[in-house]
Amino acid sequence: MIIILDFGGQYNQLIARRVREHHVYCEIMPWNKPMEEIEAKNPKGIIFTGGPNSVYEKTSPHCNPEIFQLGIPVLGICYGCQLMAYTLGGKVGNANEKSEYGKTEVAFDTSSKLLKGIGEKEICWMSHTDFVTELPEGFRIVGKTATCPAAAIENPEKGFYGVQFHPEVNHTPRGTDMLHNFLYEVCHCSGDWTMTNYIEDQIKKIREKVGDGKALCALSGGVDSSVVAALVSKAIGKQLTCVFVDHGLMRKNEGDEVETIFDGFFDSHFVRANAQERFLMKLKGITDPEAKRKTIGEEFIRVFEDEAKKIGKVEYLVQGTIYPDVIESGLGDSAVIKSHHNVGGLPSVVDFEELIEPLRLLFKDEVRQMGMELGLPENLVWRQPFPGPGLGIRVIGEVTDDKLEILREADAIFREEIASAGLDRSINQYFAVITDVRSVGVMGDFRTYDYTVALRGVTTTDFMTADWARIPYDVLDRVSVRIVNEVKHVNRIVYDVTSKPPATIEWE
Ligand code: XMP
Repeated sequence: MIIILDFGGQYNQLIARRVREHHVYCEIMPWNKPMEEIEAKNPKGIIFTGGPNSVYEKTSPHCNPEIFQLGIPVLGICYGCQLMAYTLGGKVGNANEKSEYGKTEVAFDTSSKLLKGIGEKEICWMSHTDFVTELPEGFRIVGKTATCPAAAIENPEKGFYGVQFHPEVNHTPRGTDMLHNFLYEVCHCSGDWTMTNYIEDQIKKIREKVGDGKALCALSGGVDSSVVAALVSKAIGKQLTCVFVDHGLMRKNEGDEVETIFDGFFDSHFVRANAQERFLMKLKGITDPEAKRKTIGEEFIRVFEDEAKKIGKVEYLVQGTIYPDVIESGLGDSAVIKSHHNVGGLPSVVDFEELIEPLRLLFKDEVRQMGMELGLPENLVWRQPFPGPGLGIRVIGEVTDDKLEILREADAIFREEIASAGLDRSINQYFAVITDVRSVGVMGDFRTYDYTVALRGVTTTDFMTADWARIPYDVLDRVSVRIVNEVKHVNRIVYDVTSKPPATIEWE
């Protein structure tokens, strides 16, 4: 395995993804992880990430110098390169505080192991002000630009390499080959990290852990919970019960689709708790968004508890927690944990001995890959995010059966048209909202007074910020014409053109 020490750079997870793409397992750790814990992992190599600081600042993160005595190769990227040079006795400075930013040509000495097969001049992505001005003992320069004399440095005897540019980003076209060289030429990794191996390994571990005990899984129909259910089902079959709480706030046909996949396809017990009425009753008269969310969340737990009680004693709870939710950040010492509103409260209210979280080390696209290998249908594996409270927060005002029905139909048309325009993978999330606004329209010779449906489409990588998707007018036009013609009680369609911030992705 490879350890990636996180110094707070923006591309840290990308480095991890790149390493895994080369079939080498890696983990991200905060820069101040104790040496014993690093050593205990027995890594074949260590990568220092970039970071926003300057090595001379008092508060900047510094590695333990002993790391260079472990006999393990190190690759420093950007700040990581400067830190390595500085820690080993070199000097770091800047050229009149002038930054080098963007695509830059670097001249390489390709006799370096790191640069094997790379051209003598390559475009690389730079983003820095500081750079190494004096090499530590034993180092030599193997790459330079017009303004940065030490764009790539090495001490091949020790296995220490540093690059001022970012090999992990696409703007450095040969960067992935350089990482490959570090992993295979320098660290001699065996490259046996594949999804097939990972699945087999996890199945073995789950079987050992559960023994002849029982496990319970809350299945929402989302990507993570579906993949984890499929994996654990493969491992322990009938010892697993998947409880799918159907709150009636799913999109068109979604509840039935989940049932068809999991009831027919997998070997474990599948329970669909048909709680649609229960949720509607609880939501009656509630219009405040937060009150709605709370009501749905609480009722979800009550229904789940009722089902769990019917099953009897269960030792394990299966959860689809994934790696981005658990990565410890390099600059904060606290773990960054996303607050999920859907199944967040479960472990404390239901009595389990232990959690099973086999996706804890996987990135989202790896989870999808696992889903495909486990035989889940493509439309489920590539499903866009869907909030735990479901359509409850896309019906503005009171949630009623009638409004839900209108929304489901309008949303299905929107999704259908986006897919047939081939935009379903480029727009990261898109959905319809039924507003509480009614307006006057005319249909045939008649005056109408009906609902306004809002369409929302966003592009984003992390869902923390988002831009509104530039959906072509002709696609929007088709959606609009179809909804007002095919869905009763809708006579007006609007498209949401706000980014996040200041708006959020969901309307409530
Ligand atoms: P906002 O509306 O906060 O949404 O910009 C960001 C992303 O989170 C999803 N979302 C939720 N997901 N439970 C979830 O599991 C929730 O309560 C919830 N609320 C919002 C939203 O769909 C978007 O992808």
